[in-house]
Amino acid sequence: RRITVLISGSGSNLQALIDALNTPALPNAEIVLVLSNRKAAYGLTRAAEASPPIPTAYLALQPYLKQNPGKSREDYDAEVAQIVLRSKPDLVVLAGWMHILSEGFLALLDGRADAATSPIPVINLHPALPGEFDGASAIERAYEAFQRGEITRSGAMVHRVVKDVDRGEPIVVREVPFVSGEPIEAFETRLHAVEHEIIVEAAKKVLETTESS
Ligand code: GRF
Repeated sequence: RRITVLISGSGSNLQALIDALNTPALPNAEIVLVLSNRKAAYGLTRAAEASPPIPTAYLALQPYLKQNPGKSREDYDAEVAQIVLRSKPDLVVLAGWMHILSEGFLALLDGRADAATSPIPVINLHPALPGEFDGASAIERAYEAFQRGEITRSGAMVHRVVKDVDRGEPIVVREVPFVSGEPIEAFETRLHAVEHEIIVEAAKKVLETTESS
């Protein structure tokens, strides 16, 4: 089964997927493309150094807009979607992709814009629990809520991508308790370890419940 992964940063969740390939954690799967919106994303290096090496691409938003005067953010998202579609994935994983994907992207991925493609599931990793701390800086905002005594745990989830940011149906959810007095870095370390588990579990679960394209 073909997986395409979109990244923006260090790619530690991409690495978790790479390490799980062809193990019981993620059997019968290959990563066919890693696409980044940043040329400097270390995740691109992780893909190139995988064995076998994983094809990579990057398309940064600002250079795209500069090189294509008159084109919009929607045009950028459509171009991202075309790159993704050309990789013919059975699953698209957003693993730290730091752009909000437009409705147009989702329309292309779930076939509404082109009847030729069957819907391709898109899943996203978010470092918070469903309905809590949607959007950016989720970890910091959760930690501050803990410091204010409002919560005793946060967590991470992988959910289906829909047009409302971080609001798609959860696929895997895991709570991560806070430890009183711990610095945010300690909490983040535990949370990222949980992310590395649930991103693999979610990919396996979605591939098991969708037929090959
Ligand atoms: C993860 O914490 C993810 O939840 C957030 O961005 C981070 C990506 O980390 N969206 P990495 O690039 O996979 O290491």
